[in-house]
Amino acid sequence: RIAGPCGLVLFGVTGDLSRKKVMPAIYDLANRGLLPPGFSLVGFARRDWADQDFAQIVRDAVREHARTPFREEVWNQLSEGFRFVPGEFDDDVAFEQLRRTVEELDELRGTAGNMAFYLAIPPAFFGAVVGQLKEHGLADPEADSWRRVVVEKPFGHDLESARELNEVLESVFPADSVFRIDHYLGKETVQNILAMRFANNMFEPIWNSNYVDHVQITMAEDIGIGGRAGYYDGIGAARDVIQNHLLQLMALVGMEEPISFEAEALRMEKQKLLASVVLPSRLDLTTARGQYAAGWQGGEKVIGFLEEEGIRRTSKTETYAAITLHVDTRRWAGVPFYLRAGKRLGRRVTEVAVVFKRAPHLPFHETATEELTQNALVIRVQPDEGMTIRFGSKVPGTAMEIRDVSMDFAYGGSFTEASAEAYERLILDVLLGDPPLFPRHEEVELSWKILDPVLEHWARKGKPEAYPAGTWGPESADKMLARDGRTWRRP
Ligand code: BG6
Repeated sequence: RIAGPCGLVLFGVTGDLSRKKVMPAIYDLANRGLLPPGFSLVGFARRDWADQDFAQIVRDAVREHARTPFREEVWNQLSEGFRFVPGEFDDDVAFEQLRRTVEELDELRGTAGNMAFYLAIPPAFFGAVVGQLKEHGLADPEADSWRRVVVEKPFGHDLESARELNEVLESVFPADSVFRIDHYLGKETVQNILAMRFANNMFEPIWNSNYVDHVQITMAEDIGIGGRAGYYDGIGAARDVIQNHLLQLMALVGMEEPISFEAEALRMEKQKLLASVVLPSRLDLTTARGQYAAGWQGGEKVIGFLEEEGIRRTSKTETYAAITLHVDTRRWAGVPFYLRAGKRLGRRVTEVAVVFKRAPHLPFHETATEELTQNALVIRVQPDEGMTIRFGSKVPGTAMEIRDVSMDFAYGGSFTEASAEAYERLILDVLLGDPPLFPRHEEVELSWKILDPVLEHWARKGKPEAYPAGTWGPESADKMLARDGRTWRRP
């Protein structure tokens, strides 16, 4: 799969996202030979830069963050296609220049009129930018060529604003030309959930309420909010990652088998699952939120959220969120899905744990099975990519004593191919026009529909509960599971 003639216009070149993810991914794609020889990259920003200054910025980003080794010959060919257009988002002259630049690249580099517009900018500016693209004839492709727009979350801050945002985008670009990045869907281990479920025959028969007790989806980070106070304060963990990454994981784990792996078929099943999610009635007992206080992490003392630079001292933004969800379908009746996400937790780990019911009968002496917990299948999304099955086994010896053991699949042990960075895969898919890994606006709206009542409930309450950095979150999250007779896994 190699992209045909095309180019990409990047808005927001000075941001973290461009520097850490988009620019390195473009270089890595070029280095792997997956971009067309005339690929062109146009930067647009409010800076007084020449093409060479922009090239230098990209070069620095690539040297620092690219996955593949730096090779001068790849760089030289790629950077010949770099252009920079200075301007503000409301500046007609700048967008005219952008139009001319895109046309020139067609001639010079053979981009064939195919352009992706990557909006690595706050959503508040989406409207202005797509409006300008339309105004200056950049959004409409000539026959046989394409124009696409790529957007990054947050896709709104609630259902209503998400709808407005979708309307803005889709009033200019047709729905199938809008590519929404949820970088979790670009991860190998996330795509493997469908392979694991539907390429095999041993998991699906037990993947239902007859056998599954509950599902835990965890996204734990050890980092704090770093330099992202401006973005994070007022957003919080639920909007930042549950609305998108965790609900997408849940959809992949819970959905029915799609009739094919075409985008339409996949999205239909994900949507069906998201549409059948219901919240329990007592949100005070079935959700929890927290805010990290000062604590210890990796042997170092770290400050609390309210002491972070740029955070309001009275901020009620949660850095930890946990919610209980039910799925109203035959497959999942009575099986809670517990989702949790947090910053400054014990360690960085994302996993999905499918926890099975206990055996209906244990023909052993009670003391023999004291150390036996429920069977579990754990999909390790990151960092230690793989899968674990936990089950009971006899301890060698003269007595019948049973204890948990693990059966393990690790990517590193089974594959020599390294996983590509999620952004590489997703940017390549944009350039190929391959949509299965991009959520449609229906999925985005369904996710907000699930989350809105929780966010409203929290907004009526006071401050989130403090938890010391380096621990596993607030006590209320443990109580939330304890009420159901369950405990969180300690990954
Ligand atoms: C982003 C969130 O979507 O995902 C960040 O905005 C978070 O807050 C990041 O740190 C984590 O991504 P990953 O791939 O490291 O799990």
